[in-house]
Amino acid sequence: MLNKDLLNALNEQMNHEYYAAHAYMAMAAYCDKESYEGFANFYIQQAKEERYHGKKIYDYINDRGEKAEFSALSAPTSEFTSILETFEDGLAQERDVTRRFYNLSDLANEAKDYATISFLNWFLDEQVEEEAMFETHIDYLKRIGDDCNTLYLYEKELAARSFDEE
Ligand SMILES: [Fe+2]
Ligand SMILES: [Fe+2]
Repeated sequence: MLNKDLLNALNEQMNHEYYAAHAYMAMAAYCDKESYEGFANFYIQQAKEERYHGKKIYDYINDRGEKAEFSALSAPTSEFTSILETFEDGLAQERDVTRRFYNLSDLANEAKDYATISFLNWFLDEQVEEEAMFETHIDYLKRIGDDCNTLYLYEKELAARSFDEE
C-alpha cells in the first residue's frame, strides 16, 4: 500500500516519463527530416531510456500492491530551428524532471515511506547524469558551431549510441 498522494504523484511521474519519450521521439523526427541520422539515433535511444524509466515506476507501483494508471499525453514540441535547440529543450525537460523528483522525494519524506525514498534515490542520481550529458552536448555543439566536418564526425559518434537496460 502507498499513501494516496504519493501514489497519485508516482502515477503522474510514470506518465511523464512516457511523455518524455514522446518528446524525444519528436526531436528524433526533426533530426531525421533534416538528415541528421546520428542525432536522430541519439534521441531514439534517449526515448528508449525514458520508457525504461516509466516501466521502472510501473513495476514499483505494482510491487507496492497498487495499480498503474495511464493518462493522455500532450503533444510535444515538434518544430525546431537547429540541432542545438533540440538539446537546449532536452536540458530544460531534464531540469523539469529533476524538480519533479525532488517534489516526489518531499512527499515520500512527509509520508515517512522509506522504501519509496530509497526507490526515488535511483532517479535523483540518474537526473544528475542526464543533466550533465545534455550540458556536455550543448557545450560541444556551441564549440563546433558552423564547422560541418567536425559536426559530421560528432554525429557519427552519436550514431553508435545504444541504450541497454541495466
Ligand atoms: Fe526519465
Ligand atoms: Fe531523462
